[in-house]
Amino acid sequence: MATTDVQPATGAPQELVTTDFYDAWQLEEGAPVVSGFYIEDLNTLELGAWERKGGKGAFLNLEGTGGVNDAHIVEISPGGSSEPERHMYEEMVYVLSGRGSTSVWYQEGDKQTFEWGRGALFAIPLNAWYQHHNGSGLEPVRYMAVTNAPTMLRIFHNHDFLFNNPFRFDDRFTGEKGYFNGEGTLYKQRNTHAWETNFVPDTHSMQLHSWKERGGGGSNIMLELAHNSMGAHISQFQIGTYKKAHRHGPGAHVVILDGNGFSMLWRDGDDEMKKCDWRPGAVVVPPDNWFHQHFNTGTTPARYLALRYGGRRFRQTTSVTRGETDVSVKLGGAQIEYEDEDRKIHEVFESDIAKHGAVCRMKAIIPWCTGEVGPSHISQSGD
Ligand SMILES: [Fe+2]
Repeated sequence: MATTDVQPATGAPQELVTTDFYDAWQLEEGAPVVSGFYIEDLNTLELGAWERKGGKGAFLNLEGTGGVNDAHIVEISPGGSSEPERHMYEEMVYVLSGRGSTSVWYQEGDKQTFEWGRGALFAIPLNAWYQHHNGSGLEPVRYMAVTNAPTMLRIFHNHDFLFNNPFRFDDRFTGEKGYFNGEGTLYKQRNTHAWETNFVPDTHSMQLHSWKERGGGGSNIMLELAHNSMGAHISQFQIGTYKKAHRHGPGAHVVILDGNGFSMLWRDGDDEMKKCDWRPGAVVVPPDNWFHQHFNTGTTPARYLALRYGGRRFRQTTSVTRGETDVSVKLGGAQIEYEDEDRKIHEVFESDIAKHGAVCRMKAIIPWCTGEVGPSHISQSGD
């Protein structure tokens, strides 16, 4: 199977001439729209003026979303604030850099304000008012948000309903104190752990739990935020390893938090695999039903945050894929076990990892591996 290196999106805005409601709304907002397969570094992506957000920004319409969700990047000027806004689409916010605070309310008297810094993750309860404030007079704040605006705008295509709607989702948020204090509930669902909360103070250091079925000596936490239908998760995998390939529906924005490596993506039956090299700040969205596999070629564990279209509680049927994403395709699942993968994949990994001065530690799992056996916790059946 051939491998093609994918060029990251340049950040150059695309020309939009459209009658599509969502695209027209993006044009009205005035921020540039960036499309492409993946972004190399959200921290340095070029932005344009976006008054309502309190500075600069850009929309991201990456190919792998299939149009179900989107992302945007915002930079709030030192000492600046965004305009208060509310909308009938969900929004999850991940802070790339800087520090500040956000106020959230359905009615003025019940305003909640909470502080955040780099690495924080939170969600705005559906249709609640919110306003972001940069807490520094010197440094800008930059965040990434993933929303289901494309779906919601195209279904309802009515500005008043979407942006001037008095309905309060009291089942999601009642203005209660401590809503954003970072507390939550941990529960186990099949092979994974899920944390229901409204605020994660630091995605980089958050405690994860073993998910051995996905390979790579990996650990994970599923996140359900603000009673959203959209979900998120954080995953980490070990030095010298890679995860197993799997596939699912569109819209999972995989944001690299820590580490260096690459992802391979391909459609079942295609001769060509797309290879996206990444480092912290990169984002790639696997297209609907494409197999994809993540590789750690660096000298530290690799950790990513996935901001998805569907959650665990409120699943969205967006894909033809059926079956669990951590069960072999041979057993009706959507995962390719190590012993079934194309040998070329391991060759590419060994070649890349050598360039980074790290050593492959997959020998216990991949018999044709020329690297090390690795510690006992990196094995196919153990965690
Ligand atoms: Fe995935």
